[in-house]
Amino acid sequence: MQVETLILGAGAAGMMCAAHTGPGTLVVDHARAPGEKIRISGGGRCNFTNLGVEPGCFLSGNPHFAKSALARYTQWDFLDLVGRHGIAWHEKTLGQLFCDGKATQIVAMLMREMEAAGAELWLGTSLTELSHDGERFVARLTREGAPREVSARNLVLATGGKSIPKMGATGLAYDIATQFGLAIVPTRAGLVPFTFPEGRFAALSGLSLPVRASADGASFDEAMLFTHRGLSGPAMLQVSSYWREGEPILVDLSPARDLAEALRDARATAGRRALSTVLGQWLPSKLLTHLGETFGLSGNLADLPDRRLLALADALHGWELRPQGTEGWRTAEVTLGGIDTAELSSKTFEARALPGLFAIGEAVDVTGWLGGYNFQWAWSSGVACGRAI
Ligand code: FDA
Repeated sequence: MQVETLILGAGAAGMMCAAHTGPGTLVVDHARAPGEKIRISGGGRCNFTNLGVEPGCFLSGNPHFAKSALARYTQWDFLDLVGRHGIAWHEKTLGQLFCDGKATQIVAMLMREMEAAGAELWLGTSLTELSHDGERFVARLTREGAPREVSARNLVLATGGKSIPKMGATGLAYDIATQFGLAIVPTRAGLVPFTFPEGRFAALSGLSLPVRASADGASFDEAMLFTHRGLSGPAMLQVSSYWREGEPILVDLSPARDLAEALRDARATAGRRALSTVLGQWLPSKLLTHLGETFGLSGNLADLPDRRLLALADALHGWELRPQGTEGWRTAEVTLGGIDTAELSSKTFEARALPGLFAIGEAVDVTGWLGGYNFQWAWSSGVACGRAI
């Protein structure tokens, strides 16, 4: 069978791309259903974009690479599309837009768009061999157990990253990119909970509080959640993408209140109150019990000299923690690294070394923050590539 364009991966980026390439496009995926990550995203409601999308919200070896695609297909363009399909949505927090109903509405919308563009979809299809004869790609596929051969002028790598292998994530895009000589930026799990030595936070498990978490110069004001295995919650997921093994993360336990000033004021007016009681107005008592072991929170305010009060406030505003590791691919929402952007045109996503080969979405070394940014990258890169083809 001959097609103009073969797209590997019927996820967010692949489907969006197919909706713009038009007739002569075949999309293949080894899964039984398209857009499985969309279906489970955002707790089943899909955080499909963010009102605050801008290039600074993405990590990449080249921070400029994402600019062009994000500017040419914006969050407003995607909102228009969602509106045209009559999908109701709401802003949850921090500009994050979710479906009012189910995430499957987004999958159905993309299926309708693909169909309207005349693209064909083969599910339950795996790639067994791929070659390029100088002009066209020749893909040997297995569709529902039967061998098929497809020849295509263009090949789009849209098989995503490595996160959640249980859901069918594979490194296929990296393998094919490598086969054709494209460089790969080493991959690691992103938007992923931290692990700590067993039992470290067991007594605090389930406790959540607003913090400012920082790693490698990036800071996020969001909730932190203590778990049996370590630290999670949006603040931790966000900094996990900036964290490197062996490095510390800093947690400001009171981002909205200057504790030095607040403790000084309290000492001036109620010096006989216990330090832990005063701190208990602002921080959960369970956490104070835990911190007391490290910082020594006994005694009355009046017993605290200025030097000690300032040191304590500093420690609570900059609690330094050294994660043992992360939960890894099993639970990571995204893959950092991937196909090196230096290999691709930022306008068309075509490989410089091999015209006709394209890569989009999470497979590329562009990773968004938590909050709808990764889907926006899938939509923007998919549209830019689809239009170029
Ligand atoms: P995606 O992973 O969507 O699609 C890849 C496709 O390729 C899949 O259909 C897969 O089956 C197929 N494939 C893989 N290997 C193959 C092979 N060897 N052969 C054939 N097919 C193959 N982002 C966001 O912005 N908002 C959110 O709410 C969430 N929520 C969220 C929750 C969870 C649990 C996860 C794991 C991730 C998110 N994300 C998210 C991230 C988001 O899902 C992700 O960034 C995009 O789906 C990436 O889109 P792609 O199309 O690049 O890959």
